[in-house]
Amino acid sequence: MSAILYPGSFDPVTHGHIDVILRLRKLFSRVLVLVADSRRKQYLFSTEERVEMMQKALKTAGAKNGVDVFGSKMLTVDFAKKEKINLIARSVRTVADWEYEYAMADANRKLLPSLETLFIMADPKFGFISSTLVREVAAFGGDTKEFVPPNVAKALAEKYKRGRK
Ligand code: COA
Repeated sequence: MSAILYPGSFDPVTHGHIDVILRLRKLFSRVLVLVADSRRKQYLFSTEERVEMMQKALKTAGAKNGVDVFGSKMLTVDFAKKEKINLIARSVRTVADWEYEYAMADANRKLLPSLETLFIMADPKFGFISSTLVREVAAFGGDTKEFVPPNVAKALAEKYKRGRK
């Protein structure tokens, strides 16, 4: 088990996500970060923008070799199959995340029985951060640096400034 897939929307990536990726990299020699789409969500940033933000944020955070970022419009299980990965990581912050995560892990395993999901606890200091909260703060012109990497804070400010013009 030397490689693990960490899929998410990352709209946008937060300090909490980066922390999870760096911790996963200590445990696995390769972490594939998959910027994917959920049909339940309407995205502020395009897949390409989310991939680029993730790449820059990881570089700033000093991510080692072995962390690769991909964008995908396919099912996560199909990506896992293509890359021959049998382990997915998802992070849980509080018990509120559990039902959604359980359903997703169950669906993924039904689609690809060889696939296991590993849950990793979010660092409690990031437990209150969510991408929705960050977008909300930015939409009202607030400073998001406390929650997201500097390049993401900048991208958010630009996105909403354009929207307000
Ligand atoms: N720190 C901070 N925030 C965290 C966090 C952490 N450690 N872990 C999760 N979150 C937050 C995110 O900020 C996000 O907040 P939001 O709901 O306000 O946007 C939320 O928890 C979860 O978002 P994220 O981690 O970005 O993932 P997601 O749940 O949006 O990802 C996909 C879902 C993309 C992985 C899933 O839909 C998928 O696999 N899609 C591809 C198509 C597919 O296979 N569909 C079938 C899935 S069964």
